[in-house]
Amino acid sequence: MKSERQIIRVSDAATLAQVAAERLIARLEANSGRAAVCLTGGSSPERLYRLLASEPYQSRIPWRRVHWFMGDERFVPPEDLRNNMAMARRLFLDVCAPPENVHPIPVQAGTTRDAARRYEIALQTFYGGGRLDPARPLFDLVLMGLGPDGHTASLFPGDTALDERERWVVGVAHANVEPQVPRVTLTLPTLASCREMLFEVSGSDKRPILAQVLDGEDLPAVRARSLGDTVWLVDAAALPGSSDGT
Ligand code: 6PG
Repeated sequence: MKSERQIIRVSDAATLAQVAAERLIARLEANSGRAAVCLTGGSSPERLYRLLASEPYQSRIPWRRVHWFMGDERFVPPEDLRNNMAMARRLFLDVCAPPENVHPIPVQAGTTRDAARRYEIALQTFYGGGRLDPARPLFDLVLMGLGPDGHTASLFPGDTALDERERWVVGVAHANVEPQVPRVTLTLPTLASCREMLFEVSGSDKRPILAQVLDGEDLPAVRARSLGDTVWLVDAAALPGSSDGT
């Protein structure tokens, strides 16, 4: 695993979404076959998702050969506004992606454990095996966010899910933050199996936790690393020590 991470500073949230869109498209262009993107929930990716459904980006994405997964899900019904895939569907997938290329975490399963097991099987079927080969990453791009407590995906500080090495997906009984509903999350080794992991961090409310991340504190978001490139895209308002923050 490459230990270093790249930090890219941009001026504001609008530029951040544009740079993220360009990076996503570059990863899709680098793979001429079937491509896979792991999306994230929360509010940070919303601008990016809207951009992907708008020109010139929409026409540049080879929708037929791109598959869309979700890195974590709130255990609420698929149409619930808090559901991460519902948000991604509303903002771009329903408009642009073939339905068979959209792979939601099955929140209709009875328990988070069942949902995790079913999604693990879906990922392993897509991948064509139950062992992740570092030479053949599962995802071309994994999008990530940063929570106020340093969580990423639904990997919360102190939770046993953080130490999981075998399972690809696990259930999480308690979320540290709103919405405080059970979650299902991909584990660190699964998220690491990508050519690029791209964090989007924007806004002054992210500044205190980003300072801890940059100090290298032992937080889930710091532990999350790609086997390929790990890139943190941060805007001026979020960056500690920047004069542009408020
Ligand atoms: C979720 C997310 C979560 C999110 C962070 C940041 O389901 O909530 O996947 O990990 O990325 O909490 O959230 P914001 O983008 O809303 O700040």
